[in-house]
Amino acid sequence: MSGLHGFCTSINPKLIRIYNPTTTNPFPNRTTTNLCLNHHHVISAVHLFSSSEALTLRRVSSMATATPSSSTDESKPFSVLFVCLGNICRSPAAEAVFRNLVEKRGLTSNFRIDSAGTIGYHEGNKADGRMRAASQRRGIEVTSISRPIRPSDFREFDLILAMDLQNKEDILSAYERWRFKEPLPPDAPKKVKLMCSYCKKHSEKEVPDPYYGGPQGFEKVLDLLEDACESMLDSIVQSQNAPTSAST
Ligand code: 4NP
Repeated sequence: MSGLHGFCTSINPKLIRIYNPTTTNPFPNRTTTNLCLNHHHVISAVHLFSSSEALTLRRVSSMATATPSSSTDESKPFSVLFVCLGNICRSPAAEAVFRNLVEKRGLTSNFRIDSAGTIGYHEGNKADGRMRAASQRRGIEVTSISRPIRPSDFREFDLILAMDLQNKEDILSAYERWRFKEPLPPDAPKKVKLMCSYCKKHSEKEVPDPYYGGPQGFEKVLDLLEDACESMLDSIVQSQNAPTSAST
């Protein structure tokens, strides 16, 4: 199946966990506000930044120059969107794996992490039970609710990760269609990267679709995602700490 459906006009925000109070908080003097939108959609907004966090955020946003990004607002978390076909197997798992790593490093408040599908067929559904179970066995909770990619994603996200070549092509086709209907950043296509381009331990070029296969397919997906997410986060942190022309 290929090609994107028309963009979603309904308000369907995913669960966006900017700050998780159950993990170690490197910035204790910050509070959060939870705004319930409906029975399964919560936006967690972060308020009151300490000066050390302001510094960290400035560093995070400075990586915009080192990786594809149009983010110029230094107070904005760095935003990463994972995209596959249905948004019920690979990209929700990628979202969970990456969030888990970010939480372990105490960087939760510096990131906005989300996922989407190039089709809206599974919109509103939980991730595939097989994917959730395989992730759970590795201590990773997959909580996201499926939604299709939308035009605003090209404005809002700094980095868009496609799971396979077809996904990447579909994401770029959607951009080409939508940019004639509403203003989208001209450099947005540069934000779209293949997930496996970050893999260090694996030589695969794509994260294979596990949907019609057996259980070993879900394990392979997680092996690739753990490899890619680890080195992607390393490269983000590294580039945010690198001196930029503006700071030298
Ligand atoms: P995903 O997997 O793109 O990794 O979420 C799939 C989910 C659903 C379908 C195909 C792939 N489907 O054909 O419904």
